[in-house]
Amino acid sequence: MCGITGYIGFRDAYPIIINGLKRLEYRGYDSAGLILYDGDTIKMSKTKGKVSDLEKQVEKEISKGGNIGFGHTRWATHGVPNDVNSHPHFSESENLAIVHNGIIENYDTIKKELINRGYTFKSDTDTEVLINLIEEVKKQENVKLGKAVQIALSEVVGAYAITVFDKTKPNEFVVARLGSPIAIGIGTNNKEFFIASDASPFIEYTKNCVYLEDGEMAIIKIGRAIRVRKIQDDSLVDYSVLQLKLNLEQIEKGGYDHFMLKEIYEQPKAITDTFRGRMLVNKGLIRMAGVDDNIQKFLNAKRIIIVACGTSWHAGLVAEYLFEDIARIPVEVEYGSEFRYRNPIINEDDIVIAISQSGETADTLAAIKMAKSKDAFVFGVCNVVGSSIAREAHAGAYTHAGPEIGVASTKAFTTQITLLSLIALKLGLANGNISKTNYHTYLREMELIPKKVESLLAINDKVKYIANIYKDATNFLYLGRGFNFPVALEGALKLKEISYIHAEGYPAAEMKHGPIALIDENMPIVVIATRKGHYEKVVSNIQEIKARNGKIIAIVTQGDTTVKEIADHVIEVPETIEAFTPLLTTIPLQLLSYHIAVMLDRNVDQPRNLAKAVTVE
Ligand code: AGP
Repeated sequence: MCGITGYIGFRDAYPIIINGLKRLEYRGYDSAGLILYDGDTIKMSKTKGKVSDLEKQVEKEISKGGNIGFGHTRWATHGVPNDVNSHPHFSESENLAIVHNGIIENYDTIKKELINRGYTFKSDTDTEVLINLIEEVKKQENVKLGKAVQIALSEVVGAYAITVFDKTKPNEFVVARLGSPIAIGIGTNNKEFFIASDASPFIEYTKNCVYLEDGEMAIIKIGRAIRVRKIQDDSLVDYSVLQLKLNLEQIEKGGYDHFMLKEIYEQPKAITDTFRGRMLVNKGLIRMAGVDDNIQKFLNAKRIIIVACGTSWHAGLVAEYLFEDIARIPVEVEYGSEFRYRNPIINEDDIVIAISQSGETADTLAAIKMAKSKDAFVFGVCNVVGSSIAREAHAGAYTHAGPEIGVASTKAFTTQITLLSLIALKLGLANGNISKTNYHTYLREMELIPKKVESLLAINDKVKYIANIYKDATNFLYLGRGFNFPVALEGALKLKEISYIHAEGYPAAEMKHGPIALIDENMPIVVIATRKGHYEKVVSNIQEIKARNGKIIAIVTQGDTTVKEIADHVIEVPETIEAFTPLLTTIPLQLLSYHIAVMLDRNVDQPRNLAKAVTVE
């Protein structure tokens, strides 16, 4: 986690850095800091709190001049969030400065050695250890900064994206990555360069971008093409410069109060963008290069193992139902963090699908690396183009949801399900498990989903009204069955993460095996009871809740009359094929959590303790 951004060139660095940090704040927001170099001194300002706190502090503390500098927005790993632990960090001599995203696991051993050599430490961070190690190597080996960084990094264990500046050689930055992303924006004629954890801080300045690969470092010098080398053996890397497609509008709130709300409302377009060019309804075709090019592998697969975390894991659970129902391929859905450490049995003819919005989630990334080492074929479903998981996978498909900035995942979830539905349908047709007629019915229905989501968004006011009634509840229960069981989990996660209200998701039938004990007149229970999919059984569960005075908020199919008579509130969603109901039932649950969080005055886009991309274990 953590966001890094920097500038070296001819413009005022401060506005670029501060605006860049605001765009990267989704990556971490417990403290922030920056350095500016004005040709003479390095000025540093850092503080516990948000980038807006840093902005105020800079006004009071330092002058904003200088064409070189970098900044950091932190999600604490080593050391509590406070002013001292905030980045950047200076080396002992204060000639070197660093910003770091990641964890140095062996920092304690290195720190002890450095203390023995006379180094002192102001902070509790692993990062201050790293910058002092670089300084010590530079001194001992009498080498330039780039070489010192390379040697120091070969001694550390862990993950990092770093940018280092040396006051004694002030026309260059040294950047490096292992496990955490770093993008380099290249200005015209190499007169300026931008550094960032993702490209959003510099898209208005340049579209030319180099993403470092794991194990690579770059020397960035004004007036010279960047040089990329392998950290391990110092060999030069023949990197490619990508053309960014991202634009400014995509990363702004566009009139919405929060990114989360904007992203909820973007879902009709995001879903369309996911199937655009892939699903050719008139021709009855689904084209997806990553699957087409490996179709035999998919058809020979004895099993699909899905690895993911959080919301993406919930999308994986929906995919389990999709693949097993439509393509009759056995599926296992695994948390990246569990899968990677439990010595799982992986066979050559298993396909591993990694789902990740950010494409940077450390546990998912480590899980696929492990699967690859056991010869499994890995397929990535990511949103962020060029992300680590997308690059690590043998093949894959992007969801094309557009940037998701709210920490709570919304459009990423529905687009992941859309994409996975297409894959399931493609395989189901290819292996003969669904008829052509059924396949066409699915395709035609998928084409209607964006319009249905659009019409469903009109329930916003009603959901807001319900949110107001239950905003002070201390616990919520979410129930669903079949395809909508993962939606219940997702609804509970959304409420937990942005409103801090405790919520649990359960398969509806499991209620009587425990959670029923929680039900009383104070407990709101959100039940997904669409007409397709075990409807009668869910209605019985609703009766059971009613008998215990629980408050029922039911998500039902338009025109439902049965549940309406029993539930305290009903929210109607349009009719669709059972397999696609999650694409609709999810929407009111997203809105419910959003409105409750707003009413409770929570920081919706940046909930406490969380970060958008979890690049640490
Ligand atoms: C979603 O609302 C969460 N913030 C979180 O669970 C997230 O889905 C998880 O960290 C996985 O992220 P990824 O999709 O980027 O891998």
